Amino acid sequence: MPNPQLADRQLNAKVDALLKQMTLEEKIGQTVQYSAGFATGPEGSKLSYDELTQRGAVGSMLNVVGAEKTNHYQHIAMEKSRLHIPMIFGMDVIHGQHTTFPVPLGLASSWDPKLIAGVARTSAVEARADGIPWVFSPMVDIARDARWGRIVESAGEDPFLGAAIARGWVEGYQQNDLSKPDSVAVSVKHFAAYGAAIAGRDYNAVDMSDITLRQVYLPAYHAAVEAGAATLMSSFNSLNGVPATANPYIMTQILRKEWRFDGFVVSDWGAVAELLNHAIGPDGATVARKALTAGVDMDMEGNLYATTIAAQVRSGAIPESVVDEAVRRILRVKFALGLFDHPYTPVTPPYEPTAENRKQARAAADETIVLLKNDPMEGVGPLLPLGKYAKTVALIGPLADSPKDMLGSWAAEGDPKYAISLRQALQERLGDHLLYAPGCGVLAGRDENVLKHVSFIDQANPPSAEVTEALPNDDKTIADAVETAKKADVAIVAVGESADWMTGEASSRAHLSLPGHQEQLVEAIAATGKPVVLVMFTGRPNEIKWAGEHISAIVEAWFPGMEGGHAVADILFGDVNPSAKSPVSFPRATGQEPLYYAQMPTGRPAHGDLSRMPTNAAEKFLSRYIDEDNSALFPFGWGLSYTRFSYSPPTVNRAEVPLAETAAGRGPVVTVGVDVRNTGSLAGTEVVQLYLRNSYSSVEQPVRELKGFARVTLAPGEQKHVEFPLGFNELSFYNVESKRVVEPTVYKVFVGGSSLASETTSFEVK
Ligand code: BGC
Repeated sequence: MPNPQLADRQLNAKVDALLKQMTLEEKIGQTVQYSAGFATGPEGSKLSYDELTQRGAVGSMLNVVGAEKTNHYQHIAMEKSRLHIPMIFGMDVIHGQHTTFPVPLGLASSWDPKLIAGVARTSAVEARADGIPWVFSPMVDIARDARWGRIVESAGEDPFLGAAIARGWVEGYQQNDLSKPDSVAVSVKHFAAYGAAIAGRDYNAVDMSDITLRQVYLPAYHAAVEAGAATLMSSFNSLNGVPATANPYIMTQILRKEWRFDGFVVSDWGAVAELLNHAIGPDGATVARKALTAGVDMDMEGNLYATTIAAQVRSGAIPESVVDEAVRRILRVKFALGLFDHPYTPVTPPYEPTAENRKQARAAADETIVLLKNDPMEGVGPLLPLGKYAKTVALIGPLADSPKDMLGSWAAEGDPKYAISLRQALQERLGDHLLYAPGCGVLAGRDENVLKHVSFIDQANPPSAEVTEALPNDDKTIADAVETAKKADVAIVAVGESADWMTGEASSRAHLSLPGHQEQLVEAIAATGKPVVLVMFTGRPNEIKWAGEHISAIVEAWFPGMEGGHAVADILFGDVNPSAKSPVSFPRATGQEPLYYAQMPTGRPAHGDLSRMPTNAAEKFLSRYIDEDNSALFPFGWGLSYTRFSYSPPTVNRAEVPLAETAAGRGPVVTVGVDVRNTGSLAGTEVVQLYLRNSYSSVEQPVRELKGFARVTLAPGEQKHVEFPLGFNELSFYNVESKRVVEPTVYKVFVGGSSLASETTSFEVK
């Protein structure tokens, strides 16, 4: 059983006993969830929640935050409703509740599931203090298309890394024991394959083979379920023609039958009602029936279970046993969380970040900032870390002093007043030696469409001044920034996206370049001839080809959380040696998307290097663009350090493995070993990555796939031996019958510090 607590006999006896006492309406009430607080979807319901609670007509609420507010409804549920069934409160706690950590894409750049478990732990404690025992996290959707705004909430493009990170989140939130007063139940989302929306347009249809679904998109959800995830959230998209929220293949066949999941599934916001837009039924009753019978147990804000299920049970259209099963699953989680015994939340003083919170947020951000480029400059050497020559620093750019954007999208209760901008952090270090000029706004110029979109959709919460201020004057403010840069020894240019308006849900972008006049700004500052460090605060891998070719030092900070400014300064000045590795590929051009390293081979592979033009007629017919290289500007797994690492040629402990030994459940069959040495003069941490290529098989396999990684910290001159045990999990793939198999083949092994890893060996499965 993935979660033994939910399978517990005594617990299930209590559930059954309670179920026997429930009327049909009370049962359906348990499957109903409303947002009694703010709205995180198109339109919030506006109902009489006190009265519904008292009637037992609502079993869960979302977006009700704080002990006073949650206790209010809980008192009604526990004291005034007939059966005293506690309410379960859920919320989007995504990368912190009050203490704001880097966005998930940033956290994934740490390749450190323990760090992520620690983030989840603190988030859980703070969520519980706010009356929230259930978080809508982690999002484990594989994201290979940077146009999709929600890539920021993901762990990036890779199923192996994604699964490891998913486990970290679940372990941290749930602690393998939901009954602990500071555990929260997770809701793993969005089931399934939401990240593969066609053309990166949010909510769009998803169409893929069963092999791709199982091999690439499902492993992270499965890992979370195996780690004991108590709940899942269904996704908005359709999958191969059937909306996920009414999809028995994924909800029942895969989730319940194959994975033996015992928890419950909540729909995404309004997703049951949106089945009408997907046009899979003539009326609300039909689509609600389809969702419930497919295995979606709770209707978030759709208001269709509440209004259509009872009549259908009475008419015989839905067997009552289907409702019973949904209610059982929900009650199990409520019992496991101890909500019946401890329904209320003690009221505590309002949150103030402690030194401990700040330390943890900063340490997390330190591990998530990726050094993409650090080329030597003439007479200076590598520009970073900033050395003594950098006496006067010009800080330039619209993201340099925007505390709100440091928090990133879905920042829960995170408050910008606690966020440290880069300007503030540099001011602390440099005092009068820091010069500052914003240069331009984020949304200026040709992004007028975005600006219109933004002002229209949220008039109550207009974009911050940092975003719009320089709008009418960009030419003048860019000129000011150039003058400022000329007065300094080095310019730090902080550019990026507006966290709220350009990243996250419903924020897909068709243009991945830096928005507004920011590219112009970067070019203008570079033209001064001053050394330039580009710092990017973004929620996706943007198209930064010009900068990639012309700027010598580039730092991807993502949205680094409330200690973001300090953390970026830690990296810039070398107090922290960067160790993060990008979990996504940076495109050279938006047209390369979806872009990911684990591509399938083609019959006409390209040489991949456009600087070498075709040398004969046959080279015309290659799988490549005529106007752009195939490769990423910065590939998956890429990230530099201030020290250097060298790798010994990897070895295998046996060159041949009998096929029979590779069967499921039999443990590792071969071990790859490698020595990694710190050859530089600074201590540093390397993420050692192992990739495999299956040389031939019944179903074609990616050109390489990540199958192991390890964070290794080394003192200068120190060497460590790293081992990667490989077994069924790493060697198997899905065949045309959707069966997970290992076949006789030769595995090529690549080990190194990115997906370009070139050190190789091989072994054979016979
Ligand atoms: C999002 C979910 C979120 C839910 C509740 C939806 O719009 O897709 O990720 O958990 O709202 O806020």
